[in-house]
Amino acid sequence: MSEAILNELDIDQFRSAFSKYTIQAFKKLPNLDKPRILDIGCGSGVPTMELAKLSDGEIIGIDIDQDSLDRLKKKIEKAGLTNRVKAINCNLLDIQFPDNSFDIIWAEGTLTTLGVEKSLRTWKRLLKSRGFMVIHDETKHFFKHRDKVNRWGYDFIEHFSLPENAWWEEYYKPLEIKLQELLKKYANDKAALKALEIHQNEVDIVKASPKSFQSVFCIMQKLEKEIEDELFQII
Ligand SMILES: C[S@@+](CC[C@H](N)C(=O)[O-])C[C@H]1O[C@@H](n2cnc3c(N)ncnc32)[C@H](O)[C@@H]1O
Repeated sequence: MSEAILNELDIDQFRSAFSKYTIQAFKKLPNLDKPRILDIGCGSGVPTMELAKLSDGEIIGIDIDQDSLDRLKKKIEKAGLTNRVKAINCNLLDIQFPDNSFDIIWAEGTLTTLGVEKSLRTWKRLLKSRGFMVIHDETKHFFKHRDKVNRWGYDFIEHFSLPENAWWEEYYKPLEIKLQELLKKYANDKAALKALEIHQNEVDIVKASPKSFQSVFCIMQKLEKEIEDELFQII
């Protein structure tokens, strides 16, 4: 039953309001011919599907939440993109692709598991030389580290912040309206209420302090090995 409720809630329709920022970030990259893109912590793939529309490359989304991956797989099939978009169950703590596999790593909302420094240091090996790392995360988690990324093997290319109230105005506020409607509709259904309340609790946290949830897109580029070695005088 709760799965039917979550389908009715359709979180992706609210997440899609942020696709314009994914597009804005992608357009800041140079044109790459058939790039290989790894979307780390892809969830149900709102950004993954956007990347598939924006590029002619191969996009691999990884996540550990099989329900989300199944939703993404359905979208890939519906869009007829099974030849170049994949949804794979893979833990971001143990990504098995070979070194230098990707032109772009995309990571929206997925830095917290490993932390900022460890994420950037660990995932760097997966990028080709001069490959791009695109991060979208809470400003308070990530932004204070921007001066250190050079030490971690990247050039910091550029960033843009989402409007201060974007998460509240464009995501949580419309989500709350839908939640209230469903909470009323399923007032006598315990399982439905339980599933909806998880989302309402998240809404309440953001509502209490909307400005503390500002997020930022940052674009970095992996340093060439020689430049990195030179910077740290290893050779
Ligand atoms: C905030 S959501 C972001 C989803 C998607 N990137 C987006 O922007 O809509 C974080 C995602 O990271 C995934 N995640 C959390 N821990 C993970 C892990 N250890 N390995 C892979 N994915 C993980 C969650 O399942 C979730 O889908």
